[in-house]
Amino acid sequence: IDKPNVVIVIFGATGDLSKRKLFPSIYRLYQNGKIGEDFAVVGLARRPWTNEVFRENVRDSIQNASLNAEDIEAFSSHFYYHSFDVTDTSSYDHLKILLEELEGNYQTDGNRIFYLAMAPEYFGSIANQLQQNGLKDSAGWTRLVIEKPFGHDLESAKALNNQIRVAFNENQIYRIDHYLGKEMVQNIEVIRFANGIFEHLWNNRFISNIQVTSSEELGVEDRARYYDHSGATRDMVQNHMLQMVALLAMEPPIKLTPEEIRSEKVKVLRALRHVDPDKVDEFFVRGQYGSGTSKGEVVKGYREETEELAGSTTETYVAGKVMIDNYRWAGVPFYIRTGKRMKEKSTKIVVEFKDIPMNLYYKDEAEKHPNLLVINIQPNEGITLYLNAKKAGIGSIAEPIKLSYTNNGVDGINTPEAYEKLIYDCIIGDTTNFTHWDEVAYSWAFIDSLLQAWSASQPKFPNYPSGSMGPQAANDLLEQDGFHWWPIT
Ligand code: BG6
Repeated sequence: IDKPNVVIVIFGATGDLSKRKLFPSIYRLYQNGKIGEDFAVVGLARRPWTNEVFRENVRDSIQNASLNAEDIEAFSSHFYYHSFDVTDTSSYDHLKILLEELEGNYQTDGNRIFYLAMAPEYFGSIANQLQQNGLKDSAGWTRLVIEKPFGHDLESAKALNNQIRVAFNENQIYRIDHYLGKEMVQNIEVIRFANGIFEHLWNNRFISNIQVTSSEELGVEDRARYYDHSGATRDMVQNHMLQMVALLAMEPPIKLTPEEIRSEKVKVLRALRHVDPDKVDEFFVRGQYGSGTSKGEVVKGYREETEELAGSTTETYVAGKVMIDNYRWAGVPFYIRTGKRMKEKSTKIVVEFKDIPMNLYYKDEAEKHPNLLVINIQPNEGITLYLNAKKAGIGSIAEPIKLSYTNNGVDGINTPEAYEKLIYDCIIGDTTNFTHWDEVAYSWAFIDSLLQAWSASQPKFPNYPSGSMGPQAANDLLEQDGFHWWPIT
């Protein structure tokens, strides 16, 4: 295993992401031998913590995440805290001295990862301060990891990107989309391109439509301020949903290199048909949850969650028909939907194949059951193929049968967390599962066309009860094309 030595500097080390995802993931890498003893983590935030308080926090976060944590003492000794003001130049000077010291102690060869896990308004200025204060001038490599949101629309994303690019090259920038770290999202490419029986049929001659659902049970929780300015379209569609569409629709790469794979994805995103303002309702549906029942409990509607959300017109649900205007996909709708406070937490892809021209074996023409390939991303991981086979007994009636494979519990080990894989990829310098600037730009251009079309009218919210699968209009969207959403369970 490739185990480069590295110092990871986390901006926003007292925040939620660090505690929930980053520390446990770094721990698992350590436990699995993917990072050795030659590493250090420097946590930065405003609070005046000591190393000891920080380490206590790190240990806490791991205890929740792992059952056999016997070496956590040794592990947490690699963590250092540095109280930091991102707007103050002297903070960067002190950081530089600390890094040089740690590099001596841990023999990390000057390899540095700067991980921005904090408010996006500082991304650009931090990147520049790092360069201006010489923090990039080490003997090894330096990389910048950026959490979302990467901009609010195309224009702001461009401005942010230009700012960052002054200090870092594109190949030093690792833009996180944590869906790309999910085992089954990574599997889309392999299922498609390592199987003759799928790849030959993977086009508009044999596929009638593709459905991508990412539903959540939770509501806005304590993120009202961020979420109300974002909405489901920016929060989920611009990044996660369109990334899954790109992986489903891309051409086979000529080589398994980050450049080749990402350039195929870019081509898909370039071919997305922008939303025509006069036809927005034929293609997209927005929703906001009202009160309802979630897990047997009565829950509030979005507008009642906090005072600042009263009267909000932010969408907590989006369903859409995405068209990809290229040779392979002309005419095939990619239906997507995502929302908060839906019936259950699930991410799933259904590929619906066209029926054969004349199927004599259906009992009832009205109840067709075409072949489906279902890719289960979460909570279950696996694939299910729906075929037709003869119903046992007299006659020749076809009934659907299921061939299922589940990833869960293979070898009794849980599949690695998305963040664990992404942090490791960053350490070894593999940018494949990070979004290239071109992907960000083309997806924002598409989202901008949608949001602009919507801005012309006021939505009638709330329009779906908590605990449901969304507004009725999302069903009509498919019915107008002669399809329906396949159940997600
Ligand atoms: C994040 C969004 O990017 O993805 C959240 O900001 C959302 O609003 C989350 O809940 C969903 O991720 P996952 O991995 O739980 O499906």
